Amino acid sequence: MAASQIQGNKTTSAREKRLAISVWKLADESAAATRMLEIPPYSDNCAQDISKHAVALVEMARADSSALGLLDTFLSEYGLSNTEGVALMCLAESLLRIPDERTADQLIADKILMGDWLSHAGHATSVLVNASTWALLLTGKLVSVDREFSAEPGMWLQQLTNRLSEPVIRAAMRAAMTILGREFVLGATIDHALHNSAADGLYSFDMLGEGARDAATAARYFAAYLNAIETIASGAKSEAGPASISIKLSALHPRYDYAQRQRVLAELIPRVKQLCLAAAHGGVELTIDAEEAHRLELSLEVFQALASDQELRGLHGLGLAVQAYSKRALSVLDWLLGLASETERVFPVRLVKGAYWDLEIKHAQQQGLCGYPVFTRKSSTDASYLICARKILDHPAQLYGQFATHNAHSLAAVMAMAKAGQGFEFQRLHGMGEALYAAASAYYEHFPPMRIYAPVGPHDDLLAYLVRRLLENGANSSFINRFLDQNAPAAELVGDPLQVTRQLRPIANPAICLPADLFGAQRRSAAGVDLADAASVAALSQAVIDSHAALHCAASLVGGEMGTGRSVEVVNPARHDDVVGTCIEATEADLERAFQLAIAAQPDWDACGADQRAEIIERFADTLEQQRDRFIALLCREAGKTYADAVAEVREAVDFARYYASHARRLFGATEALPGPTGETNTLSLHGRGVFVCISPWNFPLAIFIGQVTAALGAGNAVLAKPAVETPIVAFEALTLLH
Ligand code: FAD
Ligand code: 2OP
Repeated sequence: MAASQIQGNKTTSAREKRLAISVWKLADESAAATRMLEIPPYSDNCAQDISKHAVALVEMARADSSALGLLDTFLSEYGLSNTEGVALMCLAESLLRIPDERTADQLIADKILMGDWLSHAGHATSVLVNASTWALLLTGKLVSVDREFSAEPGMWLQQLTNRLSEPVIRAAMRAAMTILGREFVLGATIDHALHNSAADGLYSFDMLGEGARDAATAARYFAAYLNAIETIASGAKSEAGPASISIKLSALHPRYDYAQRQRVLAELIPRVKQLCLAAAHGGVELTIDAEEAHRLELSLEVFQALASDQELRGLHGLGLAVQAYSKRALSVLDWLLGLASETERVFPVRLVKGAYWDLEIKHAQQQGLCGYPVFTRKSSTDASYLICARKILDHPAQLYGQFATHNAHSLAAVMAMAKAGQGFEFQRLHGMGEALYAAASAYYEHFPPMRIYAPVGPHDDLLAYLVRRLLENGANSSFINRFLDQNAPAAELVGDPLQVTRQLRPIANPAICLPADLFGAQRRSAAGVDLADAASVAALSQAVIDSHAALHCAASLVGGEMGTGRSVEVVNPARHDDVVGTCIEATEADLERAFQLAIAAQPDWDACGADQRAEIIERFADTLEQQRDRFIALLCREAGKTYADAVAEVREAVDFARYYASHARRLFGATEALPGPTGETNTLSLHGRGVFVCISPWNFPLAIFIGQVTAALGAGNAVLAKPAVETPIVAFEALTLLH
């Protein structure tokens, strides 16, 4: 069903609302933007007022330099738009996870050489960012840095490296990362965090840790959450209202993926329910954080189970974070509205723009998806945020708005859209947005409550969270980064995103091509399968069922004819009761004949030219791609692969074929004119060398097999292709297609 055919209106059923969420996931960006623009959240006049208020907020916040954090100033100088900033962030990110000192030192030496540190000398007003004093902060021992390097302050880092050696810098860098980390974390334990929190502050505590890779880690994170809920519940209550806990489901189960849906639902829901019961018992609110796009639908299933559970009726404030950068955001809100009415609950909705944007773009490209799950223009995300905010504010009986942003325009727009006296709150992250919220609470006569999302945990669990904050603060598209640049006029920062989205053409960002076009004119990138999409996975399961319909029979193919040797059974190595088919082994006579035919055929094949050879190979790649599910099913059965591995393997085979076809054209299609010794012109073109034997391994029976074969064929050679003994069927099917 096309995305545009599904509308989220009052009459659509719960099932249709869920379907709409799936359908909009990778939808065409213009369609997604057009759909949201159909429901403008405010009038043009209101838009002008919002920008005016936002300018005032920016100016007020900028005037109060004391409200700027250490990190704010650091990142405004060393952002992601300069090599030095990138070098420091790479270091920050890597140092936290490199266990051995030798590698860490090599990395330091490498990154330090990358930058033009001189260009930053003396720019910043902050003590931290001023180059020589930043070094001072790195380690208490480097007090004399200022004097020693005053002649060439910008070279401080190189000189430090030369003089003090990498181990010292390493210690210094680690210390700096700890300081950076402290900026974002309220405490190493929940007790410390409570101690550090303001008595009149409103908090949502987040226990650091996510993406558990094993059961022991998931159990540790679970224990941390449970302990946090119980500690918060037994501690002093804030005057501002009930505290809340924010939970990342990926922390609580090591297989939190659609591929493991049944197991996840059976094991994860009871775990989260236990946390919810503790929260209900202690009067603590609980919000489920939004994580990577591929986990969204699974998280909704968990949320629905909790919301519908009668034993959790006593839990007030069961909330969900919704990401506005997602093309599905509006559909998720429609679905939530339905669920709220059905369960007679009011759901707190934390509206965020989304913290995984870079990852979503890369993930979609790497998986060869047909589109992106997120908008590719910042203005579209900003517009989506406002349209979603309007929807939340328009449904106070079902949804309670928790607007999480550090952007003055988004804040001013929410203030403009909310009705007088309407209940809602703002949220900011610990260590960010202080200046903006200080200005806003002074600027507005009635400013709603503001809650701080406060990460809690040891340094070891900080990495993923820290990297997201560094990316967010360092990106020159982000409001917070530009806000710090006093040279950027306030009015430029707070333009109306709806107007921008209406006017921008094309709507999708032309700098971010679709995953299929990653390699430009050279070749199309192989299409992948979205393994978090129920319909795509169902199609693969059907292909596996279909593949059982007949016994597959492989045999040597010589001159297009099947061999007649001894027949052996081919069994699924993962399930020995699954007989995939039979293989007729080649005889020595078959081999001899194959060699003779290949030797005889090669000159004609070479002579047909690179263009024609490339076309044949490309046609094969296209056909293989069309029959992808059939090959995935075969790889699952004959090689015992998982869906994810089998999808990756078919894609790799298609990519190899297209890659070698394009190279054959480029290298073997060209004729080079070379001057001869007596001034004459000689032409040189590359030709095949003869017959190649390609032997493939069992672990990549399609990708490596096809890669070798198409490379040799593209170059004008004849090929004798020999599959691994364990996996003849998939090779036979691929060669039949190639023939
Ligand atoms: P802005 O600078 O206005 O927006 C930056 C955002 O715009 C980026 O983060 C990205 O989402 C988007 N963006 C940037 N470039 C592009 C582009 N080219 N195309 C499309 N979009 C783009 N995030 C989560 O994912 N899950 C959570 O559960 C979550 N919880 C949070 C809780 C709180 C209290 C807060 C304050 C934030 C939370 N976040 C969460 C992080 C949040 O997503 C980011 O802080 C937010 O995106 C920053 O938005 P902004 O309005 O402050 O800044
Ligand atoms: C994150 O972990 C704040 O949930 C958000 O990035």
